[in-house]
Amino acid sequence: MNKLAILGATGSIGTSSLDVVRAHRDRLEVVAVSANRDWRKLAEICREFSPRVAILAQENIRDEVDTAQFPQETELQFGAEAITQIARASDIDTVIAAIVGAAGLASSYAAVDAGKRLAIANKETMVVAGPIIVERARHSGAELLPVDSEHSAIFQALQAGAEQEVSKIILTSSGGPFRTRTREEIAIATPEEAMKHPTWEMGPKITIDSATMMNKALEIIEARWLFDLQSDQIEVVIHQQSFMHSMVEFIDGSVVGQMSPPDMRLPIQYALSYPQRWKEVATRADFKKAFSLDFTPPDFERFPALQLGFDVAQRGGTTGAVLNACNEVAVSRFLQRELSFYDIARVCRELLDRHEFISKPTIEDLMVQDQWARKETTLWQP
Ligand SMILES: NC(=O)c1ccc[n+]([C@@H]2O[C@H](COP(=O)([O-])OP(=O)(O)OC[C@H]3O[C@@H](n4cnc5c(N)ncnc54)[C@H](OP(=O)(O)O)[C@@H]3O)[C@@H](O)[C@H]2O)c1
Repeated sequence: MNKLAILGATGSIGTSSLDVVRAHRDRLEVVAVSANRDWRKLAEICREFSPRVAILAQENIRDEVDTAQFPQETELQFGAEAITQIARASDIDTVIAAIVGAAGLASSYAAVDAGKRLAIANKETMVVAGPIIVERARHSGAELLPVDSEHSAIFQALQAGAEQEVSKIILTSSGGPFRTRTREEIAIATPEEAMKHPTWEMGPKITIDSATMMNKALEIIEARWLFDLQSDQIEVVIHQQSFMHSMVEFIDGSVVGQMSPPDMRLPIQYALSYPQRWKEVATRADFKKAFSLDFTPPDFERFPALQLGFDVAQRGGTTGAVLNACNEVAVSRFLQRELSFYDIARVCRELLDRHEFISKPTIEDLMVQDQWARKETTLWQP
């Protein structure tokens, strides 16, 4: 039995993770679940899976929670610290990091420090503190398994050759809802338009990140640390069908990729089953029907956020923490109609240029930069 803590169980990745558990009850057991404040959904999950612990990050909602909705065998806890503690618990084998944003960093770090398998959906963990997480995992023996479909694809493709035989990786991107729009049209895009992703159904933050292509920028940074690559070994290609999830090019010119219909349950399952493969949980490709796959280069003019990913992957240090924090606040201000679509990349570029760069930061340094960037972005005016 692989005993799981699903952190962010009420979200899009959390829901898909629970689907994977439903398909493999003989192998997977949910021991702990967490949410931010959606206690009704968390209670529903607990009634189905009877975990030992359920945690709500927001302490101030204690009074509104109807504890009778939770089963007797589940202990309900509150606060971010309880989430960090459960990531270290001795009866947990694998932590699924499915919290959104830098709020997921502390529990991811705790899981790695305690030598667990960490199934990383929370890419912000790697963007903010990639080198620290990788270094800690090396010492503790923790396993870092990607859940992002692109990184899962690369992880799988890398198995086709030796480390020194890798020439580069190619991350695919659907191009988001504004793939075919002009710069002028994108400039006046509304939150409603940006929320309409053509291929994936995801939480609101990552959906906006996909529209700006900041999501790909974050994935470039995540890949740089997770796979120990140089930034010039990473390329991005637009592939609107989201069928080829990413590729590795080896030194002989062979390109190996992983294909499947877009369904997050597959990379989640692989992060849990690795090194084995289990029977399908996700939709299968149907090669009896005709279909085609397109690959086109990205447009850095229309999607300026993309360049930020390459710059941060190259510079490292505190830049990931600043980019991530600034983007989180800018996305929320865009959703509240306080910033325009292109303001998101603009404020990120400005704060990256202006922040006090540290090349080898500690976690504390990163937290200071995170707080600074959040404050500056909240006050920023176009
Ligand atoms: N969705 C995808 O297909 C996809 C694909 C690849 C990677 N990812 C990554 O996976 C992560 C989760 O994405 P998602 O789309 O599943 O997000 P989501 O649907 O918005 O779910 C986020 C989850 O995190 C919880 N949460 C939010 N803020 C929190 C906080 N401050 N402290 C503790 N928990 C908090 C939420 O609880 P409440 O329900 O109570 O708010 C919810 O359970 C992100 O890092 C994203 O980039 C997602």
